[in-house]
Amino acid sequence: MKIAIPKERREHEKRVAATPDTIKKLIGLGFSVIVETGAGLKSQITDEQYSEAGATIAADAKSVYENADIVFKVGRPLLKGEGDIDEMSLIKEGSILIAILDPLKTPDHIKAYADKNISAFAMEFMPRISRAQSMDVLSSQSNLAGFISVIDAAHEYGRAIPMMMTAAGTIAPAKIMVMGVGVAGLQAIATAKRLGAVVSATDVRAAAKEQVESLGGKFVMVETDESGETEAGYAKEMSDDYKKRQAELIAETLKKQDIAITTALIPGRPAPVLITDEMVASMKSGSVIVDLAVEAGGNCTLSKPGEIVITDNGVIIIGHLNVASRLATDASALYSKNLLNFITPLVDPETKKLNIDWQDEIITGTLLTKDKAIVHERLKGGN
Ligand code: NAI
Repeated sequence: MKIAIPKERREHEKRVAATPDTIKKLIGLGFSVIVETGAGLKSQITDEQYSEAGATIAADAKSVYENADIVFKVGRPLLKGEGDIDEMSLIKEGSILIAILDPLKTPDHIKAYADKNISAFAMEFMPRISRAQSMDVLSSQSNLAGFISVIDAAHEYGRAIPMMMTAAGTIAPAKIMVMGVGVAGLQAIATAKRLGAVVSATDVRAAAKEQVESLGGKFVMVETDESGETEAGYAKEMSDDYKKRQAELIAETLKKQDIAITTALIPGRPAPVLITDEMVASMKSGSVIVDLAVEAGGNCTLSKPGEIVITDNGVIIIGHLNVASRLATDASALYSKNLLNFITPLVDPETKKLNIDWQDEIITGTLLTKDKAIVHERLKGGN
């Protein structure tokens, strides 16, 4: 069976879905691998390195997709009109597509996969069970985004982060607040602490308190009996009363902060607004906000996708897109490993052929379309 690794063509995408390391392992499993020329360049991987690992190099998109039984991608393929190439038309009927497919927002794509009889797996739907941890792309990518968010903030902040006691005077440590303490938020806290900041954090999930404190941060949370957590461990939308009290708490805390990193997401819904225009107006000139949720609508009302906004009162609001891709080399390495870990148990070691248990929780959790039909529960109306 042949796995294709096409070049990613969407804007802000520097990652690639395989590295020489994972290609060697895929070949060991019995696959052959074909990589589109230049696919790895933005992740610092050359065609030569892919060839040395055993891959064939394809000269263009057409030749990488034709004959491929399985397509490994980072982002969803381009539909007609979305870019220079209609990738969807190139994918072979009946093949398997494994990528981050943004399924809840792309009905046209889902229909196209079904129409072409593609078995499409959305890696971001991976169930959060221990067996699937090594396949969890949300974790591997959010972790890097959390790290770089603090570095991006430090870059824009015109001052030092740690306390410095020098003969010329003392510099106070920066105060950094992290809002939303999932994978990205925890890494942001750890990074901010390593830089010497005084760190506080908030979340709707009470379970986050212990994690924040174990990293040396102060946990700030609305006192409530309302649970902020679903059975799957994700956040849920809170009541209006909670939101009002949370806004008051954040408004009070934010005034005293130098940097705010926001990461709050609610699966399947727009990101919650945590920082309003008024709160930004109350912040000190030179303060920095990094809105990691900008692509989901934003946690800050003034953040703009893909821009660095400077407000009238001098607050700098960073809205970088595809943040994990800013660390493309590491992001590609971890993402490629996630894909390798996903496909490995699907291969029969004896016959070296795919042997998929379609009832397995990992498969039913990620499979969107099969046999020309949309099969995923969350796409059939449930959540
Ligand atoms: P996420 O990316 O969906 O959301 C980021 C954070 O924002 C979450 O902590 C969420 O509670 C918080 N949030 C949402 N609305 C908020 C609001 N209004 N105010 C403040 N905070 C808000 O979360 P992520 O990183 O995917 O983690 C979700 C959960 O999954 C966590 O419990 C995490 O520990 C867990 N997890 C489990 C894994 C596993 O078992 N394999 C792997 C990775 C994460």
